[in-house]
Amino acid sequence: MTAERIDGKAFAALLRERVGALALQFASKAGRKAGLAVVLVGEDPASQVYVGSKHKATVAAGMASFEHRLPADTSEADLLALVDQLNNDDAVDGILVQLPLPDHLDEQAVIASISPDKDVDGFHVTNAGRLAVGQSGFVPCTPLGCMMLLTDRLGDLSGLEAVVIGRSNIVGKPMAQLLLDANATVTIAHSRTKDLPAVVKRADIVVAAVGRAEMVKAEWLKDGATVIDVGINRLPPAEGEQKGRLVGDVDYAAAQGVASAITPVPGGVGPMTIAVLLRNTLVAAYRNAGFDVPEEL
Ligand code: GUN
Repeated sequence: MTAERIDGKAFAALLRERVGALALQFASKAGRKAGLAVVLVGEDPASQVYVGSKHKATVAAGMASFEHRLPADTSEADLLALVDQLNNDDAVDGILVQLPLPDHLDEQAVIASISPDKDVDGFHVTNAGRLAVGQSGFVPCTPLGCMMLLTDRLGDLSGLEAVVIGRSNIVGKPMAQLLLDANATVTIAHSRTKDLPAVVKRADIVVAAVGRAEMVKAEWLKDGATVIDVGINRLPPAEGEQKGRLVGDVDYAAAQGVASAITPVPGGVGPMTIAVLLRNTLVAAYRNAGFDVPEEL
């Protein structure tokens, strides 16, 4: 068997088109564009690239992008004051503070200062709580994107065995909640899990989010499993290479012979994250304006 490649890039492009069309409708109804504010503190190169991509994608979707780039030595009081200003700005529907923050800033305090109704990252404890008890709020973009790929591929997930490897607040825990809401039987595995290969062997659905290159082996997988690989790891450069290859948390080449479907790295989960961020921002805009959220979102 050769697994089908789950094309996250194509799915994300379609989602962005749908969001773009609805963003136009929103603007004509509300008399303003939906708006996303992104705050970057410091000059972390990867973060600068992400923030630049978010800005471009936001504008391309017909939404307003408000970028705030602050120096690395910004005080917590100044950052909290900016978040407060954005919380109170009616042109801003979504607020994203790019992580990681410089060490002198308390990430939890900054996230807690964002209005939960503008927290399009879904990182605020209020949104984590809403997800845990099944209320509508905002769900972190990466796990929500994984869920869209899974339901697109498998339809009803009721009764399926799902194993999530990784227990971060940003991916593993919300992913498990979403799978549970969809009536899957969910196991969260992590670095202390005993006999991880045996745990993974049960899974109809494997979501790998550990950040260790090609850790999940083909022999661990159940025949016909659906595999979602959240990892993005750079291998050391091979001879003659300037930069090492990007690989996921799953040994993709070997897993293709066992799984029924698998996301590639790059081009799988990665492109979904920004597309879902735009989706969440437009949902925030509809809610903040007091309109019903369109079903297609
Ligand atoms: N840093 C890396 N990914 C993310 C993300 O999805 N949201 C935020 N705020 N920071 C990040």
